[in-house]
Amino acid sequence: MIKKFRFGTPIETGAVISEIKEQDLTNLTEFNFKNEGVLEFNLQLKKLDIVYGLGEQIRGINKRGWIYTSYNEDNAVITETRTSLYGSHNFIVVDGQVKFGAFFDFADKVVFDIGYTDSNMMKVTCRGDGYLYIVNGENAYQIIKEFRSIIGQSYIPPKWAFGIGQSRWGYASIEDFEKVISSYEENDFPLDMVYMDIDYMTEYEDFTINESRFPDFDNFVKKVKERGIRLVPIVDAGIKVKNDYDVYLEGLEKNAYCVDKSGKPFVVGVWPGDSVLPDILNKESAKWFGSKYKFYLDNGIEGFWNDMNEPAIFYSKKRLNASLTKFKKVKPDMPREEFEAMRDIISSYQNNVEDYKDFYHNIDGKLVSHDKVHNLYGYKLTQCSADYLKEYNSEKRYLLFSRSSYIGMHRSAGIWTGDNASWWSHLLLNFQMLPSLNMCGFLYVGADVGGFGCNTTQDLLLRWMAVACFTPLYRNHSPWDTREQEPYQFSATDKFRQLMQTRYALLPFIYSEYVKCALNNDMLFKPLAFCFPNDKRAPFIEDQLMMGDAIMLAPVYQQNSVGRYVYLPEDMLEVRFTNAGIKTKERKNGNHFIKVALDQVVVFLRKGKVLPIAKPCKRAMDVDFKDVTFIKNIDSETVYTMCMDDGIKADDLRKYLVDIVVKP
Ligand code: GLC
Repeated sequence: MIKKFRFGTPIETGAVISEIKEQDLTNLTEFNFKNEGVLEFNLQLKKLDIVYGLGEQIRGINKRGWIYTSYNEDNAVITETRTSLYGSHNFIVVDGQVKFGAFFDFADKVVFDIGYTDSNMMKVTCRGDGYLYIVNGENAYQIIKEFRSIIGQSYIPPKWAFGIGQSRWGYASIEDFEKVISSYEENDFPLDMVYMDIDYMTEYEDFTINESRFPDFDNFVKKVKERGIRLVPIVDAGIKVKNDYDVYLEGLEKNAYCVDKSGKPFVVGVWPGDSVLPDILNKESAKWFGSKYKFYLDNGIEGFWNDMNEPAIFYSKKRLNASLTKFKKVKPDMPREEFEAMRDIISSYQNNVEDYKDFYHNIDGKLVSHDKVHNLYGYKLTQCSADYLKEYNSEKRYLLFSRSSYIGMHRSAGIWTGDNASWWSHLLLNFQMLPSLNMCGFLYVGADVGGFGCNTTQDLLLRWMAVACFTPLYRNHSPWDTREQEPYQFSATDKFRQLMQTRYALLPFIYSEYVKCALNNDMLFKPLAFCFPNDKRAPFIEDQLMMGDAIMLAPVYQQNSVGRYVYLPEDMLEVRFTNAGIKTKERKNGNHFIKVALDQVVVFLRKGKVLPIAKPCKRAMDVDFKDVTFIKNIDSETVYTMCMDDGIKADDLRKYLVDIVVKP
């Protein structure tokens, strides 16, 4: 049962696609609420109540004990003290004596104080107008499925997007890409995608290729594809201000950019220097921006990652100009306080929320301050690119993921979790994000494997790859100023190969489970409590997850550990992927110390379940789904439903679900 309430005159976000009748506010019994200029929803929490949700956010699976702000933010230092990340996923589920889900469909800022100010109180504060959806159901898991059913089916990428991707900010020429691909080949490592970061462009101009470093680009794309590999370019939100850049000029002519109060394009600084932001909340401008992807598609490209679309702003021209006179006063003998004041001015440039108030969108003829719709920017930008990709070729699925997002975008793209760091704590954080993201509809998700910022180490990368074995999006990515982190940069080649082969052996399972979850509005990664509702300990386990209904994941995420304690809510079959084949062992319920070598992946298979395993392969599209063996934990015959489509066609994948009978 779902109740919908309206507050004021909201901007339609398009997050919910089901028609739901609005109710009178007297029916809003789940929260105490008041509206004194700012809307406030209050709820008393019981000691053991759990609050799930919020998608891409910091901290654990149970969100109690911190304050979270939905106001999309580009900030590469992701510590526990942060309150906002790149996306706004305003869905929570209260699971205790009372159980309900709440989706705050507000385009403006929303603050979730979940026991931060007062440990027994939850206070949700919403700025601006919006809708509130209350979702009722038997338990948290059912509530989530119900919510997922009203926001529409999650995006399904092509099968090759479930392979391994290699990326690094710094690959800048055909030679660099050749080196990556040939190093993978020489080491017998599987690979499906190589990502092109901003250095493929001419002066960081979207929809261009640097011809001197990438001569005959379409031929290069073709040649790489003949080797079974796709190139996936980045597309940034900002368009460079430059008088001979055709895309910039075209946008100017079409009035397609966000404007200041006087109606002039608002200039901000991003990678290309002075840039303007496409007004993707305006239908015409969005359509125009989306259509620009044609440039890449015509060159044979089939996948994209959209970046800097919070939008990230290094400076606004207005703020920069206003402060320049102050710098003229800088003198070597200036008092310390004055130097510090200068430093503060410089650090105030980046992503200054005051700048977001200074530019406008033209939404159906009405000028709306960006600040009020900030959280929709990455979503709508990715939406318009997805719309065009479908228009360009409605027969084929595409790969698309974005850094910034809002619920609703899950229907047309995935996300990667932004600029994490090569920290052990981020390995756990990114693992814990998985179920929360699934709750909000985002299934095609993954983190930068090995960590983006800071220097990785061989053991961290190996452990990370053991976790990434299961994430739909699997991409190793890092920036130019950190230690090189392609697996072939380290000595443990065999260990890396073993882990990558495990991923490809698991592809029939990962892909089939993914497709089934998308079709059934289900979660791919679930907190243990969702599968073991009678287990008293399960609700408090934050470092183990169920994947599908069959396997439990319990990754090693600590430096120097040789294994870890794993809690088994019931008797299970330990399945160990090793370089000498797959080993199984029956395990009783309870606690076990499970040793895990650096090149091993260990999962736990539930009773009555089977796990399909494919033959070794180097490209996802070559994995033979028909030639699988099953690891079994069954006493009687069972059925495994596999998705047997061609992995590319945009079609109703229900037609390709095949039941395979498995005998004990
Ligand atoms: C942003 C992205 C990162 C990318 C970099 C350069 O920081 O999050 O993935 O490498 O920009 O494009």
